[in-house]
Amino acid sequence: MNIATDKTDAWINLGAITDYPNGSITPASLPSGLALAVYRVDDEFFVTADRCTHGGASFAEEGELDGHVVECAWHNGTFDIRTGAALTLPCRTPLMTYTTRIEDGDLLLNPKPNKRARPAANNKP
Ligand code: FES
Repeated sequence: MNIATDKTDAWINLGAITDYPNGSITPASLPSGLALAVYRVDDEFFVTADRCTHGGASFAEEGELDGHVVECAWHNGTFDIRTGAALTLPCRTPLMTYTTRIEDGDLLLNPKPNKRARPAANNKP
């Protein structure tokens, strides 16, 4: 996904929302090069870092999306894409999440990450 910086403010233009089918996970990146995963679920958009916090797998390349839960292909850990919370072992560390908004048919991203979800208390070995 080609990304252009919105010059009017800090938001980043991730392109037309029509480029993101419902139920999809699409790769993107920040100008810094940080890999992102863009999810579209029931016409809502969510963005997380695109590296599993357990072993670094890419969700955009290999993840499975079921509702608001993404499952990592490498060891089947899961995360809530709305909050970044780790839901199942072996994942314990939450994902970074980002705020989006839609303007004139384009998906815009605030490059400042949201406050991380708390580590899951029930994900003890
Ligand atoms: Fe994602 Fe291990 S790399 S669960």
